[in-house]
Amino acid sequence: MGKIIITTSLKGGVGKTVFSASLAYTLSSRGKRVLAVDMDLGTGGLDIALGRENDVAATLLDLLTGSFDPDRALVAGDDGVYFLAAPVFFNPASLQEVTQESFDRVLATLKEQFDYVVFDMPAGGGAAFPLVENSSLADLYVLVTTAAPTAVRAAERCAMRLAEPEKAKLLLNCYRLSKPADNTFGIVEVIRRASVPILGVVPFDSGAEKALAKGIPLAADRKSIAGRAVGNVAGRIEEESIPLFDGVMNRSRRGKFYGLEN
Ligand SMILES: Nc1ncnc2c1ncn2[C@@H]1O[C@H](COP(=O)(O)OP(=O)(O)OP(=O)(O)O)[C@@H](O)[C@H]1O
Ligand SMILES: [Mg+2]
Repeated sequence: MGKIIITTSLKGGVGKTVFSASLAYTLSSRGKRVLAVDMDLGTGGLDIALGRENDVAATLLDLLTGSFDPDRALVAGDDGVYFLAAPVFFNPASLQEVTQESFDRVLATLKEQFDYVVFDMPAGGGAAFPLVENSSLADLYVLVTTAAPTAVRAAERCAMRLAEPEKAKLLLNCYRLSKPADNTFGIVEVIRRASVPILGVVPFDSGAEKALAKGIPLAADRKSIAGRAVGNVAGRIEEESIPLFDGVMNRSRRGKFYGLEN
C-alpha cells in the first residue's frame, strides 16, 4: 500500500511546487513508483517544475468524475514520475458533487497503484483543501514554510486545521545557511512557533529560479545542496535516520544555524 504525501501550508510562494517536484523526482530515482498531482486547479505550475509543460496529461478532476481510467492513461516522464496535471479551466462548483467518500475512493485506488502520491496544494489550500484535510487516507502533510514570521504562522494554522494534525511535519525552505535573513526566525524558533516536528531544512538555492523555469527539479542537480537536502527528506520519508544537515553543512558550523546563538 502506497503513501499519500500532501505538500501544503496555506501560504503562497514558499516553495511548495519546487519541493513537490524535487521530492517526486528523488523518490522516483530511488526506484519507487511515484505519481505527482497538481492540485493548483486552474493555475498549476507543477508541470513546469517537472519539465512536463508540453505533456497532455489527465487531471485529478478526470479521475474524480470517472472519465479516465488510471490504469490505462497515466504515463511516466523520462524521470519515471507519473503526473496528473491541473485543469486549465476550473470552476470550484465542479467539486461540489465530489463527496469525501468518492474522493477517498480515488485516493485508495492511487495508493494501490503507486508507492508514493505527492499532492502539490495551492496557496490558501484551494477548493479541494477540505477534502484533503479531512481524508483519513493521507499519510503525511508536509507543511512548507520559510523562516519568515508570516509563513511560520500559516504553517501553524494549517496544522491546526487538519483532522489529523499528528500527520503533519514541517519543511523549512529557503533557509539562508550563511547568515539568516533579517527579520526571520532561527530553526529552533520556527519549530517552536509552528509546533510541528521538523522533516527537513532546505537551504536557499540561488539556482532555484532558473531550474524551475527549465523544468529541472533541484534534486536532479548533484551540485545543489538544496537538492541534497530534499534527498535527505526522501530518505526520512522512507524511514531512514538521516541527520538534519547531512551532506548539506559541516558539523562544526551547525550550532549557529539552529538559531541558538541569536
Ligand atoms: N530552496 C529554494 N531556494 C531558493 N529559491 C527557492 C527555493 N524553493 C523555491 N524557491 C523559489 O521560490 C519561488 C516560489 O516557489 P514555488 O512556486 O515552488 O512556491 P509555491 O509555494 O508553490 O507557490 P504558490 O503558493 O504560488 O503555489 C520560486 O521562484 C522558486 O524558484
Ligand atoms: Mg505552487
